[in-house]
Formats: sequence, C-alpha cells, structure tokens
Amino acid sequence: MKSYEEVYNIVKNELSEKRFIHSENVAQRCVIFAKLNGVDVEKARLVGIAHDIAKEIPKADRIRISLENNIKLDDIEKENTNLIHAKLGAKLCRDRFGFTDDMCKAIEAHTTAKPNMSLLDKILYLADYCEPNRAFDTVNTIFELGKKNLNSAYYTALVGKIIYTLNKGIKLHIDSINAYNSLIDNKLEG
Ligand SMILES: [Fe+2]
Ligand SMILES: [Fe+2]
Repeated sequence: MKSYEEVYNIVKNELSEKRFIHSENVAQRCVIFAKLNGVDVEKARLVGIAHDIAKEIPKADRIRISLENNIKLDDIEKENTNLIHAKLGAKLCRDRFGFTDDMCKAIEAHTTAKPNMSLLDKILYLADYCEPNRAFDTVNTIFELGKKNLNSAYYTALVGKIIYTLNKGIKLHIDSINAYNSLIDNKLEG
C-alpha cells in the first residue's frame, strides 16, 4: 500500500485546490474520530485524503470509465452521475494505492451510506459530512457530537443528508434508504 505522503501528493496534484483542501480536512477529522474509537489511524487518514479521488472525472466520462473498470452501476447512479465517484474512487484506490478491502468499502459507502456500516465506514461518512468548510449551521455541533458519540452523530448526518437530498428534489439512493431503515430497526430493538 502506498504511504500517506505518496497518496497525499497524488491527490494534491490531481484534484483542484478546493477539493484538495476538503480532502485534507476530511483526513484530519478521520484521524480524530479514529483515535477516539480505536480504529486504525493510518487507514482512516488514507481514506480521508483519497475518498474523492474520482470526483473530478468529467461527467461525460464517468459511466464509460466505470464500465471499463467492471463497476456495475444502478439506474440512480446512471441518472445522478455524481454518485459514481464513490464506487469508482474505491476501485481507483485499490488499483493505484493498494488500499485494503475495508478501506475500499468505506470509500464506496461515503456518499450514500449503506446498512451495517463498519466503524471506519461511519468515520469517513461523518468526517466528509462535518468537515469545517461545509456551509451549514450545525456542522460544528455534529463534529462535537461525533467526538462524544460516533453512532449518534452518524445517524444525525445520515438524516441531514437525506433531508438535503429531498429538498433538492432528486431521488434518494436505495442504499441511503436501507441505511436509514436499518438504523430505525436497531433503535427499536435496542
Ligand atoms: Fe465524495
Ligand atoms: Fe468528500
């Protein structure tokens, strides 16, 4: 697997400055959440810096490159090609950086979430949602909550993102609905 320094330099060279700063912020948040939850800090830092590596692939190329990489896309991903960078990013991180399965899964789930998220999955999802440059009022409250209770902050982030999607008037991805429903099931059981 490539070192953090190597991945950092590649991300810096290939992404816009704005997206690179976002990635650096996410990596920093990932480290904080990983330390507090006994998760491998190096893995968390790497998924943080690399998670959006495929985000700036032009819209017109996203479906074609996915097919070339044997990535199966569902109808909603074909319709909303912004979603594709999660699966494609995971594949690129595996092939180019040698990321392990657990790391690739976290990158794959960072946009939509999914049921049964691992700690690393939740850490990346939450760090991406509450990095300091995000322009919504409660970003810091969610970050602070995340330091105290990762699960509770993850739930808040998931609901926030679902409401944001509804307000935009676009379709929800089935993985987000399933993620939400599984949390409700677990709450009812608990
Ligand atoms: Fe992303
Ligand atoms: Fe991101």
